[in-house]
Amino acid sequence: MVARPTQPIAGQKPGTSGLRKKVKVFAQPNYAENFIQTVFDVVERPENATLVIGGDGRYHNRTVIQQAIRMAAANGYARVLVGQGGILSTPAASNVIRQYGASGGLVLSASHNPGGPDEDFGIKYNIANGGPAPESVTEAIYQRTCEITEWRMVEADDIDLDTIGTTQVGGLTVEVIDSVADYAALMEKLFDFDAIRAAVAGGLTMSFDAMHAVTGPYAREILEKRLGFAEGTVKNGVPLEDFGGHHPDPNAVHAHELFETMFGVAAPDFGAASDGDGDRNLIVGKGIFVTPSDSLAMLAANAHLAPAYAGGLKGIARSMPTSAAADRVAEALGIPAYETPTGWKFFGTLLDAGMATICGEESAGTGSDHVREKDGLWAVLLWLNILAVRKQSVAQIAEEHWAKFGRNYYARHDYEALPTEAANALVAELTASLASLPGQSFSGLTVAEADSFGYTDPVDGSVSLNQGLRVLFEGGSRIVFRLSGTGTEGATLRVYLERYEPVGGDLAGHTPDKLADLITAADAIAGITRHTGRTEPTVIT
Ligand code: G6P
Ligand code: ZN
Repeated sequence: MVARPTQPIAGQKPGTSGLRKKVKVFAQPNYAENFIQTVFDVVERPENATLVIGGDGRYHNRTVIQQAIRMAAANGYARVLVGQGGILSTPAASNVIRQYGASGGLVLSASHNPGGPDEDFGIKYNIANGGPAPESVTEAIYQRTCEITEWRMVEADDIDLDTIGTTQVGGLTVEVIDSVADYAALMEKLFDFDAIRAAVAGGLTMSFDAMHAVTGPYAREILEKRLGFAEGTVKNGVPLEDFGGHHPDPNAVHAHELFETMFGVAAPDFGAASDGDGDRNLIVGKGIFVTPSDSLAMLAANAHLAPAYAGGLKGIARSMPTSAAADRVAEALGIPAYETPTGWKFFGTLLDAGMATICGEESAGTGSDHVREKDGLWAVLLWLNILAVRKQSVAQIAEEHWAKFGRNYYARHDYEALPTEAANALVAELTASLASLPGQSFSGLTVAEADSFGYTDPVDGSVSLNQGLRVLFEGGSRIVFRLSGTGTEGATLRVYLERYEPVGGDLAGHTPDKLADLITAADAIAGITRHTGRTEPTVIT
């Protein structure tokens, strides 16, 4: 064992989803090592614990995996399970942690952010329930990064990550495991694969864009091999270290080829994509984009059609900026609806306590209590299960849903790479004005309430303040302003726009038209152009 002297490095504070920085930052001497050592110092783990390590295959993944293995060996772990080729999608890692009783896992990813020598990398720690570490743990990790004096490793060669098998590194047993097998088996248990196979044999077609990210091998195995979709259904299915130079972010901008396919003349019945680490999903029907908020509501309303959820749901949870569409489903089902801060980690306590079964976020995450992460392919398979049983198109399912529950028109406007001071000034000014907003009108909309969202976890009582600024209008429309916690360049302002159209109203409108007054109001309320100089968002999702 070697102890390397080091000193604290500023800025190692985990954000919404772990520590995310440029590769060049992570590659600095001691940078990753300091962070990994603090994780090992702080987290709960028994003697002889098992640690799971896997990543989304991006540039620098293999380097950090080898570092982490040498450090785990010097820090008392008995066993490391690592995905073949260093690959584990985030939901698959969550499953492996749970299935093998690991004390936790290192998930190496910067999710939907681009990869490559000049792009992003990330390290996230997941706890024994398979979910992202809660804030109490990430805060303790951060505090420790501010006082670290040494990190420990054993001197050992790199292990062969590409061959399934077992290697000893000092006292540590390293098992390279099949990245896909356990996850695919879990999916077969949850969903009616026979019904989906029958629908495929009957002509159901789809296109899945793996975006050269981690889901390629999973999607090929499950969609093409086990469910019988034609070869070539999975596009961009080979994981690449730089994701082919693209952003592995499944939205209209970065998955535009899928959108063109689904809105074109030869569109298949169903289109989907996933992100860098496989936890996000994009759902597009023939000629119809399903917003993540609507997808959550529609999945919850139809989940009983899949074997795992046939007994009903215990509750539905959504992040605060996610539209209230799912709340209406919960109400109709007579089950509780929970509103949490942004970040999957906030669902963990609800899932562990058996209070919620399905969770979702506007940021393209949906999942259930089968793991403790959001799960892109899970959402795709639940949609396929529903399509196979209902024998209807995505558009028909959406129209019937809105006719029953009303429709929450919804969009998110992102202003990326803003100077941090400008973004902070906007938030500070808006926060100070919240109390004076009720009663004022903007573009014909009158503010009913305005506040800064705070959350008390109903299970463990932990409190999280300042989780987004909400402006609620009379009639149920809403604007939420929030700074992203996942960016690596300057600040990103997210503006979430929502308008509810009740049953019997205009349910077939064009979203930008339905939100036009809210868009004008957002600028009037927050002074977006005045603070940032921007007149248009960078991305609309
Ligand atoms: C990650 C988290 C999500 C979260 C999303 C958006 O993907 O896992 O739970 O919703 O980031 O975070 P941001 O802070 O960028 O809006
Ligand atoms: Zn992700």
